[in-house]
Amino acid sequence: MPVAEASVRKRTAGIVGAGSIGSAFAIVFAAAGHRVVVQDPAAASLENARTRVSTSLQELKQFDLLDEPAEDVAGRIAYVADLSQAVHEADFIQECAPERLELKQPLFTEIERHAKPDAIIASSASAIPASRSMGHLDTRHRCLVCHPGNPPYLIPVIEIVPAPFTDPNVAEQAQRFFAAAGMSPIMVRKEIEGFVFNRLQGALLREAYCLFRDGVASIEEIDSIVRDGLGMRWSFMGPFETVDLNTQGGLASHAQKMGPAYARMGKERGQDDPWTSDLVERATAERRSSLAIEDWQKRTEWRDRQLMALLRHRRRLAVNQNNSTTAQAAK
Ligand SMILES: NC(=O)c1ccc[n+]([C@@H]2O[C@H](COP(=O)([O-])OP(=O)(O)OC[C@H]3O[C@@H](n4cnc5c(N)ncnc54)[C@H](O)[C@@H]3O)[C@@H](O)[C@H]2O)c1
Repeated sequence: MPVAEASVRKRTAGIVGAGSIGSAFAIVFAAAGHRVVVQDPAAASLENARTRVSTSLQELKQFDLLDEPAEDVAGRIAYVADLSQAVHEADFIQECAPERLELKQPLFTEIERHAKPDAIIASSASAIPASRSMGHLDTRHRCLVCHPGNPPYLIPVIEIVPAPFTDPNVAEQAQRFFAAAGMSPIMVRKEIEGFVFNRLQGALLREAYCLFRDGVASIEEIDSIVRDGLGMRWSFMGPFETVDLNTQGGLASHAQKMGPAYARMGKERGQDDPWTSDLVERATAERRSSLAIEDWQKRTEWRDRQLMALLRHRRRLAVNQNNSTTAQAAK
């Protein structure tokens, strides 16, 4: 059965699980104009979600990040305990229950039982691919993972991860649905545990734990190195662009100079994955197709201006924080 076009018109979104991610998705979908029904079996979770959504909407408005009054957006969200009520009219269903396979599998069976035949069913799972959580469903062609950052109303990227059984049309519709809601969907090309976001985060965290374990640096020191170092550039460009602009001659030159040291560090941690010349050639070709080497200097100047703007913003934030701390102390 063809799946309904979920991206063009204002639709009904069902959210299953009203914790951190479920309540945050309620904001994304309602702010995009959709009617939202959030479900959770725990009354306390539903109540917390209602409070959290209302507070976050007020704050988004204060930061000029909401086009309508907060109350209008909140008015499009309903909170229910019963699963069928949340999904039976939904065109797009976003599952946000705990990251446990033995919980998600029967939950998807229930969702499928109550959902309209043409609704898209998406899982927010952080690491569990749809093949494992939804492979047993009769209508698995309309199922996939749509993995957000936390919270999705502030972190634009969302990974669209179809399983081999997902209808490509469904994946494209999900991509359009999130793009229309102001997010930045990325279609992940192969289904893999942890997808891309958490594989990258995991690589950094694995090394951070090793450095902490071995007494090389404290937790706070490691956090500072990311906050005041690596993360400064990563707030406006990715790791490939970072090293491309760090080295005269770009990515290829960086790999030549630093590749052997990184290979030794990887081997020390039990990962023997050197950057082969063929791999570096392919990466360089892709990078050079988006930034010609003749434009490299200009782009490094752009990077520096971005860093200046960021530093100015951080200074203002620090001043504001100091002011509010002083005001608190004066009370
Ligand atoms: N927190 C994050 O940073 C993050 C980021 C991206 C994706 N995710 C993923 O999103 C999903 C939800 O994570 P979270 O952080 O919101 O968890 P959470 O613990 O904050 O919320 C889970 C909610 O699900 C409810 N729940 C439990 N059983 C349920 C059931 N059978 N039916 C419906 N609801 C049920 C719980 O009452 C709770 O309110 C997980 O798969 C998680 O891995 C989390």
